Amino acid sequence: MMRDQDRLGRLMTEEQGKPLAEARGEIAYAAGFIEWSAEEAKRIYGETVQAFVANKRILVLRQPIGVAAAITPWNFPAAMITRKVGPALAAGCTVVVKPASQTPLTAIAIGALAMEAGFPAGVLNILPGIATEIAEAWLSDSRVRVLSFTGSTEVGKELMTKAAEHVTRISLELGGHAPFLVFDDADLEAAVAGAVDSKFRNAGQTCVCANRVYVQSGIYDRFAARLTESVEALKVGPGTEPGVKIGALVDDRAMAKVEDHVANALSLGAKIRTGGRRLPQGDGYADRFYAPTVIEDVTPDMKVSFEETFGPVAPLIRFDTEEEAIRLDYGIVGANDGLPSTPQAPFGGMKESGIGREGGKWGVEEYLEVKYVSWGI
Ligand code: SIN
Repeated sequence: MMRDQDRLGRLMTEEQGKPLAEARGEIAYAAGFIEWSAEEAKRIYGETVQAFVANKRILVLRQPIGVAAAITPWNFPAAMITRKVGPALAAGCTVVVKPASQTPLTAIAIGALAMEAGFPAGVLNILPGIATEIAEAWLSDSRVRVLSFTGSTEVGKELMTKAAEHVTRISLELGGHAPFLVFDDADLEAAVAGAVDSKFRNAGQTCVCANRVYVQSGIYDRFAARLTESVEALKVGPGTEPGVKIGALVDDRAMAKVEDHVANALSLGAKIRTGGRRLPQGDGYADRFYAPTVIEDVTPDMKVSFEETFGPVAPLIRFDTEEEAIRLDYGIVGANDGLPSTPQAPFGGMKESGIGREGGKWGVEEYLEVKYVSWGI
């Protein structure tokens, strides 16, 4: 993958819209899951446990669970595949991947590289198609032993219900609504840079990106002004053009959602500091470009406060005390860090944000079965 980083990055940009530098970065991130998992494959240990009687030995083995199935999203067309495939292969499973219908080409290119690298036929299978039909077939087939899904909470719940038929193990990375907190004593420049990284990566089409930005009163005006300045400096355009930081949104549905969220916020009293509009077609904006946006006077009844916008919109909310702002119930916390995702660490959410973890040794566990052998001697 790293040999072909440029080719794969360009393909991803053309297919999904993210800027080329981000796409190349994603290829490295994606390759990192393969490398880390390959190394971790050497460290899948069983255990022996002291028995209660002298004539027995207790062995605990860890075995591949069986055929693994994966449904992956369009926002990270390479990394969300390798974050599932790497650990599954490390555990010893074969894998079937259904890539998002918006981004099958990056997935197929990864499959072709696996063939080139000498994977035996059938070990990694890329199967573009209709998600509902494929999921139905997989979950009705007792040979599929684990399904890993990244996508909406709504679909995750349906899959979980269907998985009951054969008690298929399920791992879910679902929607999130991450807050970004800025306190009075923050380093202003670092806080603004972190907010831009977190919120505007992939034009805000990221399940861990900041959905709400809470800013303490004492720093609010300075932060809002600097953030607005930084956001106005983000170059928008086709991801293949040099210097572009905000590419096209993935499809018309994504655009409609962003427009609806901003309209809803404005109708309920929010104000625009910058952006707040679709960029006109022509002038290099072929289609589906939304101006990076900062809105303020945001309240909890606005959609931006409780639904994922999945677009380049930063809603600002002022708060006074630490107690008002902090209620930590999150699978991932970035303290002074707007980009915590990395192959070594467990990625996943709590409650309706999902079950299971991806990445690190925790990701491999999802594909292993524990077998206990009581050995009489
Ligand atoms: C996602 O948005 O699904 C993944 C983002 C990440 O890996 O940081």
